[in-house]
Amino acid sequence: MIYLKTDAEIDLMRPAGELAGELLDMIEAHIKPGVTTLELNDIVHSFTIKRGGISAPLNYRGYPKSMCTSINDVVCHGIPSAKAKLKEGDIINIDVTPILGGYHGDSSRTFTVGMVPEKTKKLIEVTKECLYLGIAEVKEGARVGDIGHAIQKYAEAQGFSVVRDFVGHGIGKVFHEDPQIFHYGEKGRGLRLETGMVFTIEPMINEGNYRTKVLKDGWTALTIDGSLSAQFEHTLAIRSDWTVEILTYSPAEKKKLGLTPLAQA
Ligand code: MF3
Ligand code: CO
Ligand code: CO
Repeated sequence: MIYLKTDAEIDLMRPAGELAGELLDMIEAHIKPGVTTLELNDIVHSFTIKRGGISAPLNYRGYPKSMCTSINDVVCHGIPSAKAKLKEGDIINIDVTPILGGYHGDSSRTFTVGMVPEKTKKLIEVTKECLYLGIAEVKEGARVGDIGHAIQKYAEAQGFSVVRDFVGHGIGKVFHEDPQIFHYGEKGRGLRLETGMVFTIEPMINEGNYRTKVLKDGWTALTIDGSLSAQFEHTLAIRSDWTVEILTYSPAEKKKLGLTPLAQA
């Protein structure tokens, strides 16, 4: 069942979204060779608590940490660990989901550790562009397939592949709810978008094969062929006037983009 949100409820989700963006802005300075993903986890956890929030991933369906840290060929759901030390040339996706005022804000970005090859930079840039191409499809009359098609078309034209095993999702008081947002698909197919929908778009793009496998820990998803994978995620809301608001921009990003706190379209 899709739980449609009123504009007032979307307003209530904004603080959680902004905190997600702020956490990602904040953690960037800590990403360097030698730091462990557990240290990054603890920094995000403390910052969240200090703001009066809760880390949604912690204990979610048995997940043991406060965020996901997915290095290199980890597609998503990498578990922070004292054994995972970042090294020059790595890429890492940090996925945070604070709960604030009872609502979830879910966002992720892929960062580089020191210098990385040009092809890796391209994978990251293409993945980020895929997210924004997907967001651009969110408009009156559009369907879920339009989002997926735009992402898949661009990713594949650039020589990369789209992960099928994980999708974007509705979000609100619940972490993962309907609808499912596929990052591949056909134009004009699938569920029609409606005002009041709040959902994530979170494409995972691989350098090689799109297939994934999950480690025995039950969480860590890897590319089947060991190739690199990147991901970016935003939570967005469709207001009653069809304004599409990206809820997980940080206050600093909004300022830089010249967005007023409320209307962003
Ligand atoms: N934040 C992830 C998402 O984008 C979900 C992580 S579930 C967890 O949907 F349990 F691994 F945290
Ligand atoms: Co998500
Ligand atoms: Co997420």
